[in-house]
Amino acid sequence: MEYIKNRFYNKAINCVAEYNKLKKDHGDKVIANVTIGQVLSGMKGVPSLITDTSKLDANEGIRFRGYSIPELREKLPRMNPQGEPLPEGLFYLLLIGEIPDDEDVNNLSKDWSTRSHVPQHVFDVIDALPLNARPMTQFSAAIISMATESVFQKAYRSGVNKKYYWDFIYDDVMNLIAKLPRIAAYIYRRNFHKGHHIEPNPQLDWAGNLAHMMGHDSEEVKRLLRLYMVIHSDHEGGNVSAHATHLVGSALSNPYYSFAAGMLGLAGPLHGYANQDVIFWIFELMESLGTQEPSKEQLADYVKKTLEEGRVIPGYGHAVLRKTDPRFTAQMEFANKYIKNDPLINTVNNLYEVVPPILGNIGKIQNPWPNVDAYSGALLYHYGIKEYTFYTVLFGVSRALGVLASLVMDRVYGLPIERPSSYEMKWFVEKATGEKGNC
Ligand SMILES: CC(C)(COP(=O)(O)OP(=O)(O)OC[C@H]1O[C@@H](n2cnc3c(N)ncnc32)[C@H](O)[C@@H]1OP(=O)(O)O)[C@@H](O)C(=O)NCCC(=O)NCCS
Repeated sequence: MEYIKNRFYNKAINCVAEYNKLKKDHGDKVIANVTIGQVLSGMKGVPSLITDTSKLDANEGIRFRGYSIPELREKLPRMNPQGEPLPEGLFYLLLIGEIPDDEDVNNLSKDWSTRSHVPQHVFDVIDALPLNARPMTQFSAAIISMATESVFQKAYRSGVNKKYYWDFIYDDVMNLIAKLPRIAAYIYRRNFHKGHHIEPNPQLDWAGNLAHMMGHDSEEVKRLLRLYMVIHSDHEGGNVSAHATHLVGSALSNPYYSFAAGMLGLAGPLHGYANQDVIFWIFELMESLGTQEPSKEQLADYVKKTLEEGRVIPGYGHAVLRKTDPRFTAQMEFANKYIKNDPLINTVNNLYEVVPPILGNIGKIQNPWPNVDAYSGALLYHYGIKEYTFYTVLFGVSRALGVLASLVMDRVYGLPIERPSSYEMKWFVEKATGEKGNC
């Protein structure tokens, strides 16, 4: 068995023993009550999923296998001492639960490089779509079309024993992650650089190669993309992209189908599409106000106008978080360190002062603070990646690291098909009031 797969399995097998014991000995133990309010608000706060890769605390933000973002920026291996952590190291941590050393990361980088070839028909599928097909449409179609490569699907057909499913899922997951930068860059060059594609450089790391193939070969962009790929990777298991991947995977759909489902969820405006919406909205604001450097008063008026129109302020609010998202803070620190004066970044910083009190005063918004999407677009834009309709694809490439590490774990546990119960509205009304509902 290869090096990383071996390390993963030796670690994961302990968790499986614990899972089996829990199921056998404690299946009847009650751990939580579910309120009507939780059901009506999208099952928020209901402990119903096992996800080992990361945990989100409402006030502290995300921890990846117990490590906060500042800790990871310090502890994970980097290309150079001043740089940002390598996503390979983050993936290793998510999968195995240990901080890797340089050798582990090199090993993973090489492994992905050897798996990175994308079959021609995937490019043909992308090319068959009109140029006005959204980048996320192209990205999801490309991922689904790669299911031809699924080793799990073939193994299942040949009747492999279910205790070995995880092994084939692992290979699908590694193959898929390895190929995503090439696919994303292909879509980017097709849409925004007249189809002048750039071949991968096998000497580069995963994120560095993505920057290279997109045609943004500077060290600054590589550094930014490494940070970007680390912080967008995982946000525990209940968010739409993670949950959709997990749910579809629970039917033993192959990882290409499962991840494509997650990406279709990420494409929604309340989830990953918000990263392009933020830039769209700020440009709309600048155009409407006739200035690239709006004052805080002008920003406040525009925020109120947007709310009066019944729209959301993109990049603000969160289903779980109740404080400023540490992923926002990490990007702000990055901007403070490397960017001196940029009107878009200045506006994002000013919005951070202006928006929370306005949202907070409305009363009903649980979290008036910024999330990851409030900053990411401005940084990409600053470094020349200005095509914001593409931004959700970058989020998707990163999200693969978390949701696919979890998908391998799902199959090691042997988690069953997911099947919560639904009831008619009248059932809930009767439960709540004792009287029959009308609906
Ligand atoms: C992330 C988000 C979907 C969470 O939704 P949620 O869990 O339902 O949030 P809340 O419980 O705080 O929502 C309560 C109300 O406040 C509204 N609200 C929440 N965030 C808001 C925002 N940024 N701007 C305006 N209204 C907002 C909701 O739409 C909801 O209104 P309703 O009662 O009329 O339906 C929501 O904050 C949002 O739409 N944010 C903007 C989009 C975004 O940045 N998404 C990326 C998330 S990482």
